[in-house]
Amino acid sequence: MVPVHLRSGVPRRSRALLFAIICVVLIFFLPSLTNRVCLGHVFPGASLPYDTQSPAENAAGYVSDDNPILGFSHMHDSGTGGNPSLGNFPLFFHPGCPDDDFAKCDYSVMHRGTYRVPGSAFASVGYFNINLTNSVRAEMTVTEHTALYRFSPLVLVDLVDLANTRSLGGIQVYPESARVIGEGQYNPSFGSGHYQAFFCADFKGAAVRKAGTFITNNATEEPKFLDTVGANHYIPTGSAGAWIQFERPEQNFILARVGVSFISVDKACQNAEREIPDFRFERVEAEAQNAWRKQLSVIDVDATGVSEELQTTFWSGLYRSLLSPQNYTGENYLWNSTEPYFDSFYCIWDSFRAQHPLLTIIDPAAQTQMVRALLDIYKHEGKLPDCRMSFCQGYTQGGSNADIVIADAFLKNLTDGIDWDLAYKAVISDAEVEPHDWGVAGRGGLNGTGHLSRTISRGVEYAYDDFCISLMAQGLGHTADAQKYYQRGVPEHTHLLPIQNQHSCYYDTGLDTYEGSPWLYSFFAPQDTAALIGLMGGRRSLPTGPHRYIPRQFNATVNGIPGNDDGAMGAFSAFALMGFFPVAGQNVYLLTPPFFPQIRIRVPVTTIKGKKEPDKWAVIRVRNFDPEQRPFIQSATLNGKKYTNNWITHEFFLKGGVLELRVGLEESTWGTSEQDRPPSYRIWSAKRMQRD
Ligand SMILES: *[C@@H]1O[C@H](CO)[C@@H](O)[C@H](O)[C@H]1NC(C)=O
Ligand SMILES: *[C@@H]1O[C@H](CO)[C@@H](O)[C@H](O)[C@H]1NC(C)=O
Ligand SMILES: *[C@@H]1O[C@H](CO)[C@@H](O)[C@H](O)[C@H]1NC(C)=O
Ligand SMILES: *[C@@H]1O[C@H](CO)[C@@H](O)[C@H](O)[C@H]1NC(C)=O
Ligand SMILES: *[C@@H]1O[C@H](CO)[C@@H](O)[C@H](O)[C@H]1NC(C)=O
Ligand SMILES: *[C@@H]1O[C@H](CO)[C@@H](O)[C@H](O)[C@H]1NC(C)=O
Ligand SMILES: *[C@@H]1O[C@H](CO)[C@@H](O)[C@H](O)[C@H]1NC(C)=O
Repeated sequence: MVPVHLRSGVPRRSRALLFAIICVVLIFFLPSLTNRVCLGHVFPGASLPYDTQSPAENAAGYVSDDNPILGFSHMHDSGTGGNPSLGNFPLFFHPGCPDDDFAKCDYSVMHRGTYRVPGSAFASVGYFNINLTNSVRAEMTVTEHTALYRFSPLVLVDLVDLANTRSLGGIQVYPESARVIGEGQYNPSFGSGHYQAFFCADFKGAAVRKAGTFITNNATEEPKFLDTVGANHYIPTGSAGAWIQFERPEQNFILARVGVSFISVDKACQNAEREIPDFRFERVEAEAQNAWRKQLSVIDVDATGVSEELQTTFWSGLYRSLLSPQNYTGENYLWNSTEPYFDSFYCIWDSFRAQHPLLTIIDPAAQTQMVRALLDIYKHEGKLPDCRMSFCQGYTQGGSNADIVIADAFLKNLTDGIDWDLAYKAVISDAEVEPHDWGVAGRGGLNGTGHLSRTISRGVEYAYDDFCISLMAQGLGHTADAQKYYQRGVPEHTHLLPIQNQHSCYYDTGLDTYEGSPWLYSFFAPQDTAALIGLMGGRRSLPTGPHRYIPRQFNATVNGIPGNDDGAMGAFSAFALMGFFPVAGQNVYLLTPPFFPQIRIRVPVTTIKGKKEPDKWAVIRVRNFDPEQRPFIQSATLNGKKYTNNWITHEFFLKGGVLELRVGLEESTWGTSEQDRPPSYRIWSAKRMQRD
């Protein structure tokens, strides 16, 4: 069983980094606390990979402190940095009401908060439980669109979401069948517009005694139906929902099965009935665990001598990097399409660097579907997303970093249904056509409207986006374009945009860079590492020490994630611990000393043409390994032959093989000569000139 890393709600410096998990249960926080920006923001509840629902945090709906618990909801985004996301339709349980009078129980978010029994929260893969001080014990597990809860006898379902953004909505309780259905319209956490969501909750295990609805803290038996539409059907924003009071349960607990959908109540009920027809908690939990075990079995590490703590950091990082983007295929209400639909790209500025490259290695089928989903969004909305959640356009961070994700997929030969002509149109649109509102998609700074800040970061990023487009143009045979974008991708040709009206937003530095200092951004020239090394005063002056950064910033304590983890940080730590790091948008992985004596990554079956060969592995082995760390590579062999490049290509993960790295305490000359370094703009230019 993989330990899940519970994250805490420690106030942190503001930053709108990365992402989201989806899940089954949300634990709500008191409204006064919802403005807190939290570290990590990871969702610890039961979840499936890329899944639409799951039980338990506050950005992600859960905080590992002693704040009261306000409910358990079924849809989550993990690791977000903006407002809390999703968390719709929370359930809340009362063990009973004062004087056995349902009207004397507390219903609204403002009143019902109940403390947890300290230390009682437990999370494992596909499962979450917690004891509340009102004697309720809540357990939950999950399938793709349905959550299953086990708890003790007055339950309420609230139409509220985490950030309290509901506008329209309605709810109906059926006492005869112990079913509650409902819907609402909500705002996305870091974007514009709104989205719709539906649920269908069925209860089992006890006879219904009474049922009704509530508005804020006022519960009544009639009406059994609330709606926002029509003159007599007014529900104020905030808490409003339905409740059911049960007889004493036969087996001391009641089961709640909650299906969700973005399409309709009917679809939510169908999802629930299809995925959990039997209400068997243990079966659902075992299947969720199996799904995770299978997903993570692609990687196998020899952990001899490696601390438990580091192993937990490693596996938790991998787990978190598989939570988002979420697979909403079959739930897209915006357009009809046979293409996959993924959501919660939170944001691509964060995920292009490590998370998407990680998926390309460990789950190329999922990465392929995500690329297809990005292209389908381009096809129907006119631009590739930069940030997207809950069917809405998110606020722009980089602008067009999806170009890098797409070029990366192209260079690594992901195919399976990707329309590369459409993909090329999409990236060229980013490069050439400024949208009217570049606050939510595309590049900006010419004549549209959007933040007129981040000129430095946007400048260097647009250049790199163009560089990646040039690699793709070349591969697709668009030679003139390849030249053009190659020129535009030269770091020093970057045209920094003028500052006109410098917004200092909480996620901007105020120094024309985004979530990083100009100093940090001066290192962002992945297309030209040779020039960078020169400019920065030579190889020896470059900062080293990933080996220090990892234990210091990533560890298995509740606060052991620096910043909010939308999956990008998890992927970063996983790569760093395995000893290689992708240069996203190029067929290059930089080598560093691994933290394990051996790492094996299974070659994806789908990439071997025609025949199934599941048991091929790409193996990285460390000679002279020392768990206390020998931070310098002294020499290397690839499949038994001397290997001097300080980088490898994606072919290693497609074909398999054995890369052996001998490590030591002393800095060595391995991989330092010019021909051993990754391809660099200047080197390529020189070669090209010789050829031409
Ligand atoms: C939580 O409640 C369950 C069932 O009542 C009990 O067995 C368990 O010991 C409790 N755990 C804690 C940490 O209080
Ligand atoms: C509670 O709601 C009922 C039914 O809508 C209404 O008659 C009653 O006045 C409300 N009570 C309070 C205290 O608001
Ligand atoms: C999708 O197709 C169905 C059936 O033709 C139609 O009823 C529905 O309105 C379409 N949805 C959208 C978003 O176009
Ligand atoms: C996404 O969901 C669809 C529909 O359920 C499924 O066919 C597809 O395999 C899923 N993709 C991944 C990567 O799990
Ligand atoms: C992609 O395919 C091309 C053409 O078959 C091949 O030359 C290249 O090595 C492949 N790249 C990777 C990363 O496998
Ligand atoms: C920006 O200006 C160019 C050149 O005048 C024009 O072609 C383009 O349509 C304009 N874009 C917007 C969003 O107004
Ligand atoms: C664990 O990581 C956190 C967050 O990065 C850091 O603040 C803390 O000092 C680390 N703890 C240890 C013992 O290294």
